[in-house]
Amino acid sequence: MSDLFSPANEQEQEIILLTRELNHHNYLYHSCDAPVISDEEYDQLFRRLLELETKYPEYKQDNTPTQRIGGLVLSEFSQYQHQIPMLSLNNVFLNTEQDDAVLRHHELFQFTARIAKELAIDESQLEFVASPKYDGVAISLIYENGLLIRALTRGDGFTGEDVTANVKTIRNIPLNITTDLLPPELVEVRGEILILNADFLKLNQKQAESGGKLYANPRNLAAGSIRQLDSSITASRPLRFYAYALAQHSGTEFTSFQQELEFLQSVGFSVAKECTLLKGNQALSSYYEQMMDRRNELSFGIDGVVYKLDSKTGQQKLGFVARAPRFAIAYKFPALEVESEILAIDVQVGRTGALTPVARIKPVNVAGVVVTNATLHNQDEIRRKDVRVGDIVLVRRAGDVIPEISRSLIERRTVLLEEFTMPQGCPICGSHVIQEQDETIMRCSGGLYCIAQKKQAITHFCSKLALNIDGLGEKSVEQLVDAGLINSVADIFRLQVEQLLELERFAEKSATNLIAAIEKSKATTLPRFIYALGIRHVGESSAKDLARAFGSLDALMSANKEQLLQVRDIGEVVACSILNFFNEEHNRTIIQELLTLGINYPHLVADNLYHPEISGKTFVITGSFVNFKRDEIKAILEDFGAKVAGSVSKKTDYVIVGSDAGSKLDKANELGIKLIDEEKLAVLLAELNKNEASNNS
Ligand code: IVH
Repeated sequence: MSDLFSPANEQEQEIILLTRELNHHNYLYHSCDAPVISDEEYDQLFRRLLELETKYPEYKQDNTPTQRIGGLVLSEFSQYQHQIPMLSLNNVFLNTEQDDAVLRHHELFQFTARIAKELAIDESQLEFVASPKYDGVAISLIYENGLLIRALTRGDGFTGEDVTANVKTIRNIPLNITTDLLPPELVEVRGEILILNADFLKLNQKQAESGGKLYANPRNLAAGSIRQLDSSITASRPLRFYAYALAQHSGTEFTSFQQELEFLQSVGFSVAKECTLLKGNQALSSYYEQMMDRRNELSFGIDGVVYKLDSKTGQQKLGFVARAPRFAIAYKFPALEVESEILAIDVQVGRTGALTPVARIKPVNVAGVVVTNATLHNQDEIRRKDVRVGDIVLVRRAGDVIPEISRSLIERRTVLLEEFTMPQGCPICGSHVIQEQDETIMRCSGGLYCIAQKKQAITHFCSKLALNIDGLGEKSVEQLVDAGLINSVADIFRLQVEQLLELERFAEKSATNLIAAIEKSKATTLPRFIYALGIRHVGESSAKDLARAFGSLDALMSANKEQLLQVRDIGEVVACSILNFFNEEHNRTIIQELLTLGINYPHLVADNLYHPEISGKTFVITGSFVNFKRDEIKAILEDFGAKVAGSVSKKTDYVIVGSDAGSKLDKANELGIKLIDEEKLAVLLAELNKNEASNNS
């Protein structure tokens, strides 16, 4: 390959310039958070480069940004030996029992005292670089002559797996590095790959919406993403890289660790802004306390801080013991699990009558949050963990998740404690408690007679995805039910401003607003109406499917089991639950009342919405289109019951191909999957539109 100094022709020169330009914009966007061109302009340049590379593959550059979108599929990872082993760090812990700073940080101060002694330097003069201990996946990046040639996982510390294709998709990892003069011959960078908390939440939100499985935590997802054999899957995950050390490099030696970090930053790596040079014990301990306090505000997960001696000569003198350096330490945060005592076990009743035992515990601070209640899930769980009132237990909190009891410290029992059993009757209304076959959950059989269920059923009816009545949240519903103003969801539509004015918390304005919101909610849609009814097992997505299949509430109410079973994703259990719900005289009456009170929705033409070629089929969309946006195509297909996937596999039924389609098209051809070009797509969408129009008329 020739370089910019001697391009073979115009095309090669354009490819070289575009590669350089795009890499620079990529750096500005992902590493500096300071883009200078719009996303559209970037896309345009990117597409142009793709086009040229497809036409003239011989001129494709090794550091081309087009490899960021992945595409390489491996059958296994090859293994490589680390030139410099990837060691671990020794850990020290905070003594949470102590308030006095010297005692609290005793283990840390032992570490600095040892270093001071060995280096014969006064402790107060020791300088350390402090950094967050990223909770991600360790990785080693090797650059030869400025070009990223290999990325290895830690493996056993001596041999790692080659995940280069995957790592190249991570946007804030430079594909090539340049210094002032020539690119450095060799640079090996160590750091951590992670997923930012905000990106993780967004991803899980998407999973929840599409009914997919939720990811456990950002760390596991990052680890799973980096070990994908198909790099386009890795490319679809929002991974980021933070550099924490320079393992080796050619050229002049640096004399301090701080200089190494500055070098890394100067050639384009992200280094957390929390990394800082500190001098003396007091500075080290307060850095730790500060980071612990700010732990939940940081954009990524950390499980402690790392201190590294700044002086490189000092580092060399100290050397290594076993598998860890003696000049560095990981100062871990206290666990998100602490001891408390069970004061009582209460039983709460949910919307569908499910009884959930909740432990009232002696208030404890679990990593910064005072916890007083913890869920015990169900009777089986209580039995399995053998939790009894009076027990000392470990309470666990993971992020925003509801605190739970991780285990009971049975060995700490000093007196005989009574085993907990679930009540025979509902703690709210006294109705029988039933336990369905194969279910661990117990339920109150009181239905809407049970005030707890009633309140929650009404709250659900008003909630955002249901009738979306602004101002009727849990608290207001509780107040209205307790005041005897509403007894069923139909009563909501009989409320008068004057009645509200008699209640606390309501003034002229809030009362009028609520009545207006109630009035507005009457014009709804069939899926919302079905969802609002709160039929067990009928969530938002089943409600949509049912609405499409039956077109009206009447049709749904008179459907028999066979008809219900024909609807997508409706199985035996859901079908029975729907039948039971509509069999209940009380429910039919309320629905009738609601319709009389003015709830309305546009009818749909049953089944027509199901385009036989589309419903249940899996599509992949690739390339760009003249007349459609990809998001639009996706939304329409999903509306008609199709699945739209991100990558081509044997399960794909159709691939919709625009211009500049890349590896996905190749894969589709390889697997012999049917293709739909823009022309055919237009015909298909027009046909679907026609159906929809006839539905809405
Ligand atoms: S320095 C000789 N700095 O923690 C090892 N490690 O227990 C030098 N880690 O596997 C590691 N954040 O992947 C260092 N700021 C940081 C770190 C960090 C996370 C990980 C690292 C290593 C483990 C060591």
